[in-house]
Amino acid sequence: MYHFAMPKRTDTFELAIVFPDSERPAYRRLYEALRSKILEGRLGPGERLPATRDLARQYQLSRGTIVNAFDLLKSEGYLEGSIGSGTYVSSVLPDELLQVAPARSRAADRRPVTRPTQRRTSDYANRVRMFPGFEPRPIRAFRPNMPALDLFPASLWAQLAARRFRRASTSLLLGCEPLGYKPLREAVAGYLSASRGVRCSPEQIAIVSGVQEALDLTARILINPGDRVCTENPGYVGAAMVFESLGAKISAMPLDKEGIELRPSGLRGTRLVYVTPAHQFPLGITMSLTRRLQLLEWARKSGATIFEDDYDSEYRYSGRPTPALQGLDRNGSVLFAGSFSKVLFPSLRLGYLVVPQDLLDRFAAAKSLTTRHAQSTDQAVLCDFITEGHFGRHLRRMRGVYAERLSLLLRLAGERLAGLLDISSVEAGLQTVGWLRPGITGKSAWRAAAARDVDVIPLSVYDLSHAAPEGLQLGFAAVDAREMERGVKELAIALQNSRRA
Ligand SMILES: Cc1ncc(COP(=O)(O)O)c(C=O)c1O
Repeated sequence: MYHFAMPKRTDTFELAIVFPDSERPAYRRLYEALRSKILEGRLGPGERLPATRDLARQYQLSRGTIVNAFDLLKSEGYLEGSIGSGTYVSSVLPDELLQVAPARSRAADRRPVTRPTQRRTSDYANRVRMFPGFEPRPIRAFRPNMPALDLFPASLWAQLAARRFRRASTSLLLGCEPLGYKPLREAVAGYLSASRGVRCSPEQIAIVSGVQEALDLTARILINPGDRVCTENPGYVGAAMVFESLGAKISAMPLDKEGIELRPSGLRGTRLVYVTPAHQFPLGITMSLTRRLQLLEWARKSGATIFEDDYDSEYRYSGRPTPALQGLDRNGSVLFAGSFSKVLFPSLRLGYLVVPQDLLDRFAAAKSLTTRHAQSTDQAVLCDFITEGHFGRHLRRMRGVYAERLSLLLRLAGERLAGLLDISSVEAGLQTVGWLRPGITGKSAWRAAAARDVDVIPLSVYDLSHAAPEGLQLGFAAVDAREMERGVKELAIALQNSRRA
């Protein structure tokens, strides 16, 4: 539940006045319009009215007309104050005035109107469900999906932003093309080709508001209600929810140690496959080369599209970096998406989608009709962050920190959680999974851990077919050494209690 702080009252807004349609003089019509605003509670007691000069300019009336209307309202007790010190709605309105229109208070006026019983909503509206965002609570062990935000170089970012605004050109303040700020698209293309083995030109890069928007755009462009979409199971629920909201039928495919299993029964009639090959979410499996080639071959033959979600692949601690599936594709079957949410910070809401040439116009059109383009000044700051080398430095630094945190977690778990939880030594990402011994369910472990101020996520949360293995997802990236020690100790007690129960 979000609570919105009430903004401070301000008298700098322009006052919207609807003048009654009549032959009466302008000052009289202004008087009537302001009087009804006061009686309806739209202008509340004590509220300051705009200066006569400003109102005159706004409505192209003479200042004398405004002064006459104000004087009349003052004489009747609606307004008080004097020229120079400002004009206010009277704090106590005469009783008889309130009896003329006791109707609505300002608070009532602002209350949302309840839903008319007969309103029809679209099929989309009936299907769409809320995907939870980040809860703003203190970080504790083992909060998954969370980078170490306290180590983000915020003052450096602020300097780059200040410089951009100091030198802001009119064109930057106006906006950019639907697919994004050109220099950023070039920088992202360079980064993806050097670091991820992606084959693309800068024109193919669409700057989006995170992978989530990339999923939504892709689904709207490629999926019709009733179409089949294949996802990994367990998998990223936020992707399945996008597809379901557009009426797709989901085939949730199991995983083996090479990645998604390509079962003919699940793939039949599939239009789109969503995969996380670099680092499967949530199990952390890296898709084998054989499986990648099989998937591409199937897509080529069937005409289906593959959505490659490359989330968190920047953080690889061991093994060789696995180049993107997109880089192996010779058929334009793969849409490759990644995000700056975890490498920089989540509220930035910037990510990228590598779009095959033939779909570029469709994506640009869809973007132009929705957000028009991602926020352009943030894109420019991000572009500077990348091209001036800060991005590479930040990645290297965080990779070192996270690698240390992962190895500390593995060591402590070896000492304290043996026999209770087998932690996988993942090769990449911000979290890992732990497999529970028979007799403890993920849900009971999660409850017992929460009671001891430890965050874990039961893997059943990511299960799309309700046959989840019993395990937990544990984040390590945002957790410092002291909190890690506390977390492992408390988790051990929680799991022992849970086993006994
Ligand atoms: C696997 C996976 N893909 C995509 C996303 C969405 O990322 P973004 O913040 O870029 O929208 C998430 C978010 O947690 C995720 O876990």
